[in-house]
Amino acid sequence: MKKIVILISGRGSNMQAIIDASLAQKWPVNIAAVISNRTDATGLQYAASKGIPTAVVVSKEFSSRDAFDTALQSKIDEFAPDLVVLAGFMRILTSGFVDHYAGRMLNIHPSLLPSFVGLNTHQQALDAGVKVHGVTVHFVTAELDHGPIVAQATVPVHDDDTEESLAKRVLLQEHIIYPWAVRQFIEGKLSIVDQRVRISQ
Ligand code: GRF
Repeated sequence: MKKIVILISGRGSNMQAIIDASLAQKWPVNIAAVISNRTDATGLQYAASKGIPTAVVVSKEFSSRDAFDTALQSKIDEFAPDLVVLAGFMRILTSGFVDHYAGRMLNIHPSLLPSFVGLNTHQQALDAGVKVHGVTVHFVTAELDHGPIVAQATVPVHDDDTEESLAKRVLLQEHIIYPWAVRQFIEGKLSIVDQRVRISQ
């Protein structure tokens, strides 16, 4: 059975969608831990309510990015995961950390990458005047919000959209494609060929 560790920083609605799908669909998976970099991440309570071990490595207690990533990596590796799932984990990761989990760490980013990297993606989409926006699940590489794409979903942008209304529409799609993508990994269906993800049937 594959083991996964989920990293969160806040409410953890994507984490919750993954936990719920794994239970409802009886995935062959052990969600070994949910780890946060903040003590006030509300998602920790949901994980605990499902009997999943939780841990916190407080990022602001570390004087450097390297020191934090080293501590986080040793905490994650206590659980020996096959896959690390970043679910609203609001940290820029060092290349050593990313390399350690190469090919076994996924992230969800609320835009159609490669458009709109970084923060405030819904406002970036509104400012650009795009008619279609969305979300991307991708393998994590050293470059921020890059890496081989596993899945994308699109939503329309309406004339009267605000950042909030657009975020809400995108989030509904996040909760569909992230569990789907994680399940493909767990079932061994993902491979990366020339920086492109192939999904076997
Ligand atoms: C999501 O929009 C995700 O795409 C982004 O941060 C947000 C986290 O939301 N990376 P949640 O904590 O999963 O509810």
